[in-house]
Amino acid sequence: MARGKLILIEGLDRTGKSTQTEKLVKSLGDNALLVKFPERSTQIGGLIDQYLTNPEFLLPDQAIHLLFSANRWEIAESMKRSLLKGQHVVMDRYVYSGVAYSAAKDTKGMDLNWCLQPDKGLLKPDLTLFLTNSDSELRQGFGEERYECTDFQDKVRGQFAAIFDTLEDPDYKSKHIKFLDTTHKTIEEVHQLVRAVTSDYIQGHADVNEFIYF
Ligand code: TMP
Repeated sequence: MARGKLILIEGLDRTGKSTQTEKLVKSLGDNALLVKFPERSTQIGGLIDQYLTNPEFLLPDQAIHLLFSANRWEIAESMKRSLLKGQHVVMDRYVYSGVAYSAAKDTKGMDLNWCLQPDKGLLKPDLTLFLTNSDSELRQGFGEERYECTDFQDKVRGQFAAIFDTLEDPDYKSKHIKFLDTTHKTIEEVHQLVRAVTSDYIQGHADVNEFIYF
């Protein structure tokens, strides 16, 4: 049996990732599983949730970075089992968020390469859809969680660009990463785009069974 595909929807806060991830999973039917990172329901996820929601819960930048990565590792095996059973796994954020948000802190020694190391060995997405949006209204109205402010999001944007321009392998990038501009598009229009790119990918790679790793 062909394995399922590991599909990632990535982007900055407020680009519609969660909505699009949910709609994509629904459109793929019974054969798809949604995984959201951080997965806040585990013990490690609980610590991450506290860190994000409680400004008085302090951790060194290195420690919270490793917790975000550990949160991916604790779910890695069950994701792989689902893929081997032929299920598609659709993720809302993953390693690229992990690297971009931590590197954006400008903490001494925490450059892109350092940030990627704990995720080395995790499954790499078959397809990443990176949602971009240049609508200036999206630069306002963030929520209350840590990281949800315009200045920091601008730094994260720069780090995402650096990951895709300098850290990621160009051959992998050209085959497995698609950038979707969602500016001035409705939720439904973006969904149709996401769906079309995903269906094309799944059909075009139906017989590819080996996994790719970070
Ligand atoms: P969420 O809003 O998608 O639930 O994500 C919570 C925040 O956590 C968001 O600001 C991005 C950040 N984040 C990291 O800093 N590192 C990570 O590894 C992940 C997955 C998210």
